[in-house]
Amino acid sequence: MNKKLLFLCLAMMPLASMAQQGLKDAIGKYCLIGAAINQWQSDGQVPEGDAIVDKHFNCAVAENCMKPESLAPAEGIFDFRVADKFVSYCQQHKLKVLGHCLVWHSQAPDWWFTNGYTASPASKEVLRERLIKHIKTVVGHFKGQVHGWDVVNEAIEDDGSFRKSPYFNLLGEEFIELAFRTAHEADPDAELYYNDYSMAGEKKREAVCRLVMNLKAKGLRIDGVGMQSHNGLDYPNLEEYEKSMDAFAACGVKVMITELDLNVLPSPEGFGGADISQNFEMQQKLNPYTAGLPKDKQKEVDARWLQLFNIFYKHRSQISRINLWGVSDGGSWLNGWPVKGRTNYPLLFDRQYKEKPVINEIIKLYQ
Ligand code: G3I
Repeated sequence: MNKKLLFLCLAMMPLASMAQQGLKDAIGKYCLIGAAINQWQSDGQVPEGDAIVDKHFNCAVAENCMKPESLAPAEGIFDFRVADKFVSYCQQHKLKVLGHCLVWHSQAPDWWFTNGYTASPASKEVLRERLIKHIKTVVGHFKGQVHGWDVVNEAIEDDGSFRKSPYFNLLGEEFIELAFRTAHEADPDAELYYNDYSMAGEKKREAVCRLVMNLKAKGLRIDGVGMQSHNGLDYPNLEEYEKSMDAFAACGVKVMITELDLNVLPSPEGFGGADISQNFEMQQKLNPYTAGLPKDKQKEVDARWLQLFNIFYKHRSQISRINLWGVSDGGSWLNGWPVKGRTNYPLLFDRQYKEKPVINEIIKLYQ
């Protein structure tokens, strides 16, 4: 083999091995790396998605099928069929399973808050019993199969006050303690987390630290805080974002990036946070990239991804999991929120399930 060819091969080696490497080979040395999987993929209907999962991820969350409305469609009825398929999918693809979520104001079954067949609101006692039964049954059903649970999701407003959900309105803060205590009793080995969005906000950061310290003061187990991280090109403020990581770690809990995506589209006026109830009219100017991202925009997006992963690398001793909210751009909830019918590019794999070039740069960061 002539010297020039040998030199070329040797020079190409790192690049070649880099392309072989997946996110889990690099980031996996420091923390779990995964994605939210939708029902179609866990039902085995997306082989291209399976290829991505096998190469890049070592953990997964069910995007929807482990939420209360999916598991408890009617009083006294639990339907684990889709969720069981998700858990077997994870076992088949050697993925740690993270449970999402036990108590949330959205996607909760309507019957939880009403009194049997009358429309009258359920009483404090009835709601408490229903929460206990749901958590015991669900956590018990997946005992030993779920690494950790988002026990309570989005219970704090951006101003630091408690969200006035039916849980809080009827049970006050007690519903949070009740949920963590019951989850721990149902599976003493499972990790337990509090999960929320807009966690770079000072008021929310302080309130979540109070929530964690309050549970700990009551001798209740809490292992981690999930920063959803539905980020954009100019939000959140990255200095405040890092302050929150430090603050949660200082409370003695793990920090997790649980629902990472990067909205690249212009935001409608009045838009903010990740509350699913926001819904804005379509306007052409809000959907400018239906034919693909222009080069300069792609550069801006890649730079933002590297800013974020530089921060995750810097905080690698605090961060126990990085989880993308979806696998490929085509399946992201951000194509339909907060404006239905848009073409967004918020993930690391494109609509053809191809790796975006920035993945190699991210892997280099963790080398
Ligand atoms: O399953 C029904 C289907 O039968 C029906 O035909 C279809 C038409 O309406 O709706 C389907 O349900 C949709 C479900 O996703 C499954 O695709 C719901 O309408 C839709 O609201 C639901 O959206 C999910 C959203 O949570 C609901 O709150 C998104 O996929 C999911 O990505 C999103 O995830 C949340 C996290 O759990 C918590 N943090 C914020 C994050 C984004 O909102």
